[in-house]
Amino acid sequence: MRALSTIDEVRDWERGAHASGRTVGFVPTMGALHEGHLALISRAREISDEVIVSIYVNPTQFGPSEDLSSYPRPLEADLAACEDEGVAAVFTPSDAMMYPEGFCTFVEVEGLSERIEGASRPGHFRGVTTVVLKLFHIVRPDVAVFGWKDAQQFLILRRMVEDLALPVRMEGVETVREPDGLALSSRNAYLTDEERAQAPAIHRALQAGLARIVAGARDVAPIREVILKTLGEAPLIRLDRLDIVQRDTLEPLNRIAPEKTLIAIAAHLGRARLIDNVRV
Ligand code: PAJ
Repeated sequence: MRALSTIDEVRDWERGAHASGRTVGFVPTMGALHEGHLALISRAREISDEVIVSIYVNPTQFGPSEDLSSYPRPLEADLAACEDEGVAAVFTPSDAMMYPEGFCTFVEVEGLSERIEGASRPGHFRGVTTVVLKLFHIVRPDVAVFGWKDAQQFLILRRMVEDLALPVRMEGVETVREPDGLALSSRNAYLTDEERAQAPAIHRALQAGLARIVAGARDVAPIREVILKTLGEAPLIRLDRLDIVQRDTLEPLNRIAPEKTLIAIAAHLGRARLIDNVRV
């Protein structure tokens, strides 16, 4: 496995892969890799010849009171996990490389970036789209793989790729969960034992809402109610957002539109802010 730390090294590696007729699959991450990330790598390996993973905790997507400084950075373990998964190259850029002095160019997917998570985390998606666009320009992948765990992020990035005609195929992978339903997240490491025991209520609540819809419910109000009631069984969970929205526009719905609905929860649990969603 190649450990690449400069833009020029990545460009050389990418040119080499493409010159020999091999396709490049790209998995952007912030590290602290878990089975969710590994599922993306595994998918990337299935659909491309060479897989490159980036590990970069991107400062521009963190708000001033968020966990940028405490975000876990277990680089050695991450590199070993990539090696085990058959990754061909890992790119670990520095802040100075991604945001050189005088940096002032940002890309913004308007509208979609201000809704749901964007309403709670102003500027977050502007940071995500900017860093991913820059990484795409450096890596020049044929395909890039993202998790549906961050559904809004995936929808926004897909929109960016379409709007800017970027030559990248976007692939989504279903959320990987613990046996009790908790979505894997690097931020689960912040949970105490007691918080960890209550955390699966987020997934349970989404499943309870989904069960109502499967049973024929279409009005959003009673579906919200059952979700809130299930979350209420876990008193340590402090709900930040419950959004039931149209999947393309992310506009709130009054009635469920089958196959076009996203139900998303963001909740604080101790130090962690956790997100999860279901697509209906
Ligand atoms: P990060 O949170 O490290 O996630 C990297 C990728 O892993 C994202 O596509 C995310 O959706 C996916 N992922 C995380 N948990 C998952 C799970 N339980 N199951 C499946 N996929 C999961 O998302 C980011 O980093 C950053 O915003 C990034 C895109 C790298 C830009 O900085």
